[in-house]
Amino acid sequence: MVKNQRYSEFQWKKSKEHTVDEDDDNYLHPFAFICKKSCCNHKRAKYKLWFFIFLSLISCTLFLATQLFSSNPTAALSFLSDSFRVDNGSETDVNASRCSSVPNGTICCDRSSFRSDICIMKGDVRTLSVSSSIFLYGATSPSGHLTGIIDDDDDEGKKEHVIQHEKIRPYTRKWEPEVMDTITELDLIVKRKDFGVRRSCDVVHNVPAVFFSTAGYTGNLFHEFNDGILPLYITSQHLNKKVVFVILEYHNWWITKYRDILSQLSDFPVIDFNGDKRIHCFPEAIVGLRIHDDLTIDSSLMENNKTLGDFRDLLDRAYWPRIRGLLKEEEREGQLNMAKSTFSPSSRTRRKAVKKPKLVIISRNGSRAISNEDKLVKTAKSIGFSVEVLKPVRTTELAKVYKVLNSSDVMVGVHGAALTHFLFMRPGSVFIQVIPIGTDWAAETYYAEPSRMLGLRYIGYKILPKESSLYDDYEKNDPILSDPSSLNKKGWDFTKKIYLDRQIVRLNLRRFRKRLLRAYNYSIARKNKLRHHQLQ
Ligand SMILES: *[C@@H]1O[C@H](CO)[C@@H](O)[C@H](O)[C@H]1NC(C)=O
Ligand SMILES: *[C@@H]1O[C@H](CO)[C@@H](O)[C@H](O)[C@H]1NC(C)=O
Ligand SMILES: *[C@@H]1O[C@H](CO)[C@@H](O)[C@H](O)[C@H]1NC(C)=O
Ligand SMILES: *[C@@H]1O[C@H](CO)[C@@H](O)[C@H](O)[C@H]1NC(C)=O
Ligand SMILES: *[C@@H]1O[C@H](CO)[C@@H](O)[C@H](O)[C@H]1NC(C)=O
Ligand SMILES: *[C@@H]1O[C@H](CO)[C@@H](O)[C@H](O)[C@H]1NC(C)=O
Ligand SMILES: *[C@@H]1O[C@H](CO)[C@@H](O)[C@H](O)[C@H]1NC(C)=O
Repeated sequence: MVKNQRYSEFQWKKSKEHTVDEDDDNYLHPFAFICKKSCCNHKRAKYKLWFFIFLSLISCTLFLATQLFSSNPTAALSFLSDSFRVDNGSETDVNASRCSSVPNGTICCDRSSFRSDICIMKGDVRTLSVSSSIFLYGATSPSGHLTGIIDDDDDEGKKEHVIQHEKIRPYTRKWEPEVMDTITELDLIVKRKDFGVRRSCDVVHNVPAVFFSTAGYTGNLFHEFNDGILPLYITSQHLNKKVVFVILEYHNWWITKYRDILSQLSDFPVIDFNGDKRIHCFPEAIVGLRIHDDLTIDSSLMENNKTLGDFRDLLDRAYWPRIRGLLKEEEREGQLNMAKSTFSPSSRTRRKAVKKPKLVIISRNGSRAISNEDKLVKTAKSIGFSVEVLKPVRTTELAKVYKVLNSSDVMVGVHGAALTHFLFMRPGSVFIQVIPIGTDWAAETYYAEPSRMLGLRYIGYKILPKESSLYDDYEKNDPILSDPSSLNKKGWDFTKKIYLDRQIVRLNLRRFRKRLLRAYNYSIARKNKLRHHQLQ
């Protein structure tokens, strides 16, 4: 997550100077101003001020952006970060960079995004995994502009037939060289069709292939969705399942974990690129994945305007068969129990009672755990919630988590990768993120903003120094407590070591209760509205 980090800190430094009272019940992030609904009931003068600050931030960002894409990007680059690299060719070749229409027999690479490259090859595409290559047999006869490219090296006459040669690592974190080094670099080679030997196909496919890697940060739920699954949806949904996924750095566990989703995106079995040495032939190859922003889909960049909500609909379809199975099992067990206890008055009365709103706590142990989680459970119950504590780990079946969250009204959790599960909440439900000291930017960028985009009602709970275990470890006026942004400025490693890896949260439940009450009132009102709607 090294990311455009300096950039982010620049923003946060700015907003820090005018921080809203953290205990304010209406506490909202400045970013809430650009959201659609949830923000518009707080029209106080303070927020007007915020609005202006925010406007200036936006113009600042725009200014930066123009700097970036102007003819002299160096100034802007040094202001941002070394790892924030912008491709040179993008502006000269705007149309081609989109690669929206690629003529048969050619390759088009879009390297304009700072997050990922993507190359599209159309025509006679053949894989050669032993040399990490994909060949495209293109033009039949040399045409004018190609003559200059013919290589002198006629050793075996191989290279002279190369029309174009591109290299690409099909992973979506282009700005992080260390992680990109873990991804196989593919050679994409366009050759003349009528010279030399064409390797014969072992398997002929008549639908396009999408090539991507499951190395990198795969293993962390945030990254699995952010760097992999969502980009895969963005890149392939318009193909209506008529696509074969070819996976570099293939992991069996990844396939098992995401099988439900993959089956909604492709009708065909996946191919393990490194493990399967056969030559696969395709009419088209899309190498690399498109990505928009963190855990987000920008519908204006999608064919048929797909949104994050559409992605969630796909999740619902993906998990439904498995969940239906689980529900049937439960029903059977329920009937068995019923038969045993001949008559069960409690279940009958329960059926009549109004169903309590359900609150789910996404629990962590170790760093960023809530040390008084049992008290949190009691408090939530005393308000009137039914409470379930989930401890998802890497091997937890996602359909089971989906089943719980899809039937919940509120999700509570401390900032961390497991909050990626907000994608499983139904639009209109509440998401409370507990924000430990020093994690404001990441909390806002990775979870708050995308969750609003999904239509969740987001509440950020920024803890006070006293609610952090760091309060026991440092003096009150230590910059670690008093000025986290100054530490974050030193780099991601500091953020990680101090704020992410060494902080336990001890919730002030009197303070936190206010959020829970708000969430409760909101959930009750929403339930009534839904019921009203159903009765009509
Ligand atoms: C960017 O373009 C300039 C001028 O065309 C060139 O000198 C420079 O080498 C290019 N940089 C990269 C990284 O391609
Ligand atoms: C880019 O696209 C626009 C409209 O789609 C077109 O008018 C223009 O000629 C294209 N430019 C190049 C260099 O192909
Ligand atoms: C594209 O080119 C390949 C050979 O280069 C040919 O087999 C294929 O039929 C062509 N496809 C179309 C749609 O023209
Ligand atoms: C997609 O969005 C564009 C621009 O926002 C709009 O003109 C178009 O009608 C939308 N298409 C669909 C299918 O909603
Ligand atoms: C999720 O909840 C909605 C609304 O209650 C329901 O219609 C849908 O079937 C549920 N999805 C799954 C996969 O259980
Ligand atoms: C978290 O819980 C798991 C299983 O309950 C345990 O194996 C693991 O050691 C715990 N981790 C920490 C840091 O306490
Ligand atoms: C929630 O609703 C109750 C009763 O309607 C009300 O007394 C209370 O003030 C509300 N609390 C919040 C935080 O809105």
